[in-house]
Amino acid sequence: MITAFQDWIAILLRWLHLMAGIAWVGTSFYFNWFDLSVRPPKGKVLKENIRGTLDEIHGGSFYYHEQYWPDTHPERLLVHAWPAKTTLITGILLLTGIYWHGARTYLIDPSVADLPPIAAIGISFVSLVACWFFYDLLCFFADSNRTVFVVMSLFVALAAWCYQHVFSGRAAYIHVGAMLGTCMGLNVWTSIVPHHIAMRKRLMAGQPIDKKDGEKAKRRSQHNNYFTLPVTFAMISNHFALAYNHHRAWLILCLLMAGGVSIRHYLNVLYKEDRKERSLLAVVVAAFGGAIGLSFVRPAPPPVVGPVDTPTAMAIVQRRCMPCHSQKPTHPSFAAPPSGFILETPEHVMAKAEKVVQRTSVTRDMPQGNATGMTDEERAQLKVWVEGQGKKP
Ligand code: HEC
Repeated sequence: MITAFQDWIAILLRWLHLMAGIAWVGTSFYFNWFDLSVRPPKGKVLKENIRGTLDEIHGGSFYYHEQYWPDTHPERLLVHAWPAKTTLITGILLLTGIYWHGARTYLIDPSVADLPPIAAIGISFVSLVACWFFYDLLCFFADSNRTVFVVMSLFVALAAWCYQHVFSGRAAYIHVGAMLGTCMGLNVWTSIVPHHIAMRKRLMAGQPIDKKDGEKAKRRSQHNNYFTLPVTFAMISNHFALAYNHHRAWLILCLLMAGGVSIRHYLNVLYKEDRKERSLLAVVVAAFGGAIGLSFVRPAPPPVVGPVDTPTAMAIVQRRCMPCHSQKPTHPSFAAPPSGFILETPEHVMAKAEKVVQRTSVTRDMPQGNATGMTDEERAQLKVWVEGQGKKP
């Protein structure tokens, strides 16, 4: 009962996180693209100090926008900060509720590093905070966005490599995303919003705005725009064991993120007067192709064991799978068998034979977080037994 209730909290938090995240990413996409797509006005304009204008058609209507610097505070001014704040808050709750509270199931993989939960949680917390300070200081010292981009790309690659060597594959990917997501959320909270407030205060006091405030907010907003796609990939990656359970999972992640950033940049500059950046499409193909190719390179499986009989195979299933995949799971994290998938008899195993072999021997993400400590030998034995069953007349 309690576990089912916890599951519902997790479902609603994820749903809220997703809703807020979509709203945030949507505005980020729109405004950053807009900034690069406006052109200086040719004819009559409505406001003073126009930087650019843009005509659009969408959903059956024509729209006309002017980007300008106001002299007075507009009567009605929409702000867009809440989606970002909601995404950050729900993200923190999800990370702590799922990965910290369920550290043994989701964060720690004893075959990677047999950490006590408190140590794993400590690494999680310190690394996320450290990344923010690193990035914030980098922005302070480096004026060029190109430098920030190169240094942060190397930092992300290093972080992905480090996480892979301390956490479960799934938690490693989520943490790279959480790290960048934290930077995004704190960019809004500590830089973009305060600079917006500073500009509005000056207007309300009848003073001209300081364009430096605008430039600083804009810079962090641009960085956020390039973080969006890497972060969203990391957030949905718990479905992609083929990528995260790999001995070079960190590199696969970097390639997939690089593809996302390239697509973002390509779309941002699509309507810019002087640039098209078509070569970026080649980068996308190379990055995604590289990730797919790499995923097929896996270390050789352990030496083939002799024939495996049914009692041996079912003893393995009972020890390693049934704590979760049974009518009444004994594992504390599950009130009901996950995915409704029960593994109590040889027939149950054979009914989803291909999936069982795929997830224990190829992607190796079952048992989840290797919570039941399945050995390589047992994985090989289960595979040999399943394949032997399949060949029986
Ligand atoms: C700690 C709990 C846990 C253990 C132990 C565990 N699993 Fe799972 N299993 C899950 C969860 C959670 C899911 C659903 C999420 C997913 O598919 O990743 C799942 C899903 C699956 C699925 C996909 C079912 C479907 O129809 O989509 C297969 C196959 C599977 N497990 C096989 C195994 C095998 C084989 C073992 C034992 C070697 C095992 N699992 C041990 C938690 C566990």
